[in-house]
Amino acid sequence: MSTLVVDNIGLLVTHDAELGDVCDAALVIEGEHVVAIERAGRAAADERIDAAGRCVIPGFVDSHTHLVFAGERGDEFAARMAGAPYAAGGIRATVAATRAASTAELHALAHDRRREALRAGITHVEVKSGYGLDVANEQRSCAIAATLTDDVTFLGAHVVPEGADADEYVALVCGAMLAACAPHARWVDAFCEAGAFDAEQSRAVLTAGRAAGLVPRIHANQLGHGPGVQLAVELGAASADHCTYLSDADIDALAGSDTVATFLPATDFSTRQPYPDARRAIDAGVRVAIATNCNPGSSYTTSMAFCIALAVRDMRMTAAEAVEAATLGGARALRRTDIGHLAPGARADAVLLDAPSPAHLVYRPGVPLVATTIARGTITASLA
Ligand code: NIG
Repeated sequence: MSTLVVDNIGLLVTHDAELGDVCDAALVIEGEHVVAIERAGRAAADERIDAAGRCVIPGFVDSHTHLVFAGERGDEFAARMAGAPYAAGGIRATVAATRAASTAELHALAHDRRREALRAGITHVEVKSGYGLDVANEQRSCAIAATLTDDVTFLGAHVVPEGADADEYVALVCGAMLAACAPHARWVDAFCEAGAFDAEQSRAVLTAGRAAGLVPRIHANQLGHGPGVQLAVELGAASADHCTYLSDADIDALAGSDTVATFLPATDFSTRQPYPDARRAIDAGVRVAIATNCNPGSSYTTSMAFCIALAVRDMRMTAAEAVEAATLGGARALRRTDIGHLAPGARADAVLLDAPSPAHLVYRPGVPLVATTIARGTITASLA
């Protein structure tokens, strides 16, 4: 097996409890895994990347995306910037475009977005369905998502499709649609929000998913206060995503649970929502993650760096906390121990930044600082 060494790393952020941050380091990779972290300039290599004193961090783990869709909603975004509110109903426009696309088109679009995310340093993604909303189209979306990742989420409960009866639709999601999608998926999700699904409907979908072997995660408290976070904790969901509106009781419930609060700050940016107070949650003991939520309606970005900058500027996280939330936090939200950190045995997913420290992701907003992305031990994207 050949050895790849990233050498002369000025600062290596490992997120490993024992190793911490290592100065003047070399990251030694064999096959898909990290095998050692050594002093700079000592490791033998078949292939060597000279980091030239720059910083290396674990690859970003994007634990919330909707990469399988067709069409775009730039006009809707422009209207929002002119004062129109964001509403869940916009999802139906993307459903129409997605249903109209051929499987080959949909596959190519999803893979183009995945490549864009890799260039931005995202080495692992969760990918949801949710723009099909009938049995055949949800199954097709899950199957395409499974060509991108082993963290596929069945989101038939994204919104009630045009003309459908809500109760009949929930029964379909819990029945034939779940049966068709579960073989492709690891997770089940529901958009628990006014205009989408209420607590009872969301509970029905998530419970049915769990009975089919999937693990729940929830879109919760995005557009206002609501029952989503409490439901996430009640069902032992891996993650409650959005969490833009958190009551004291929500924070207490999350802090006393294994459920990760996943913040999606680019969504709050793109929908002109207030930003959640991550400081308040972290100080209360809530485990947090940051994800891009890449989708055509509420957050059309693959830039985790942008999300990190927003989390620090507007959610009161430190730069170190935000980078950890976008790597190790994402791994926790996906209940994975193989990614989000760099130590012997971990998956060799790393990002070489064109910067001396990860704080530059915030300090130099909008600048493409991801110089090289290594995913599963392979250099997958490089500006060099
Ligand atoms: O996570 N909130 C629900 N789903 C997506 C938005 C989807 C859309 O607007 O197309 C989200 O923000």
